[in-house]
This record gives sequence, C-alpha cells and structure tokens, in this order.
Amino acid sequence: MPPQLIFIIPTRTVRLDSSKKIRTVVSGKERVDVLARCLLSLHRWQSRLKYDLKLVFYLSHPQEEKAIIIPLHNLSEKIDDEFEATHLMIHLLSSPEVFNCETQKISFEELLLRTSANSIIYYLTPNGLPFLDVKKELSRSDSLCFVLGSQHDLTPEQESVMYKIGALQISLGQLNYLASHVLTIICHYLFDS
Ligand SMILES: C[S@@+](CC[C@H](N)C(=O)[O-])C[C@H]1O[C@@H](n2cnc3c(N)ncnc32)[C@H](O)[C@@H]1O
Repeated sequence: MPPQLIFIIPTRTVRLDSSKKIRTVVSGKERVDVLARCLLSLHRWQSRLKYDLKLVFYLSHPQEEKAIIIPLHNLSEKIDDEFEATHLMIHLLSSPEVFNCETQKISFEELLLRTSANSIIYYLTPNGLPFLDVKKELSRSDSLCFVLGSQHDLTPEQESVMYKIGALQISLGQLNYLASHVLTIICHYLFDS
C-alpha cells in the first residue's frame, strides 16, 4: 500500500444541514469556497505524488463535531476549475456516501489521536521550524499528516490538542498563505522527495 498524505483542516463555519447554492457559496458566511479551493488544489497533485492523498475537513461547530474524510482516489469526477470544485464540494457535503466519502462524529482530539496511530502529525504555522530543515525527516517517514487552519487559524483549544499529541510545528515562512496555497506548497516540496 502507498503511504498516506493526509491534510486535516478544521472549519467552525461549515454546517452539514444548511442549504447551499453555488451562487451564494462564495459570499456565504460558511465559506464552503475555502474547502472547495483546497479540494481543487489537492486534486491536481493526485497522480503526481507517491502518496495516497486524503483530505479531512473537521467541522468543529458545536452542533457538528464531525470529520468528513475524502480519499482523493475515490473522486472520479472531473475538477477543472473553481466552479466544478465548488459544485462537487456542495454535493459532497450533502451526500458524502455518493462519493464514497465518510462522515464520522468524533472530537478533534480523538481524530488526531486516531490519525497519529498510523501517521506522523505536523502542525503548519508560520511560527514553526522551517519546512526545509525537516524535509529529510519527512521524506524518510511513511505516512504524513499535516494540520492547518481554513480561513481561520486553529482555535486555542485545537492548538492545545496539537501540543498534547506532540505535533511538530512546521513553517513555510512568515507570510500568511491561503489554506489551498499551503496544500500546493507542501505537495510541491514532497514531489521529488
Ligand atoms: C488562511 S490561513 C488562516 C488565517 C490566517 N492566519 C490569516 O491571518 O489570514 C490558513 C492556515 O494555513 C497555515 N499557514 C498559512 N501560512 C503559513 C505559513 N507561512 N507557514 C505555515 N503554515 C501556514 C496555517 O495553519 C493557517 O491557519
């Protein structure tokens, strides 16, 4: 089995049971467009990396506390642009099973603990160690998991989970990147490792 490359992205705004229309998503307060852009970004790397890619959105709203697990190889749909990615994201949130994706009711801490059983977990933050300093270590390990914020940073509670599980903090520099850009940069760094 190929090693896994997992990205866990918590979002406190996205809800499963709200009505979502493609025209209102971009200006909508849930910011589903942020998730759609992450999906598009990662989809483009699927056939280029030695890893099995998995995107996990953690819906941290108190009435959700659910993880949506999206193995990229399960998505046979064409995703050529942001419009198609947004369309797919809306459908995936309402019917994950149609796309062979799983929704789990789980706490953020439990999600991280379970993931850490098979993957080394890294927390992406501008204040961490420079990525290039740890690149060698990353390329030696089998499965990797990176945790990053969506349109918001992790909450203090989520950050304390990262410290509790001993996740190494990694930085891509002092500039603040969009979550979708962070995915692209990490995949680019891992491309030839
Ligand atoms: C759009 S940012 C979150 C909000 C952002 N801090 C802001 O002020 O706009 C998305 C996430 O990407 C990760 N990130 C952004 N820039 C980074 C960097 N230079 N190094 C490491 N991670 C970064 C962090 O996990 C961050 O929470």
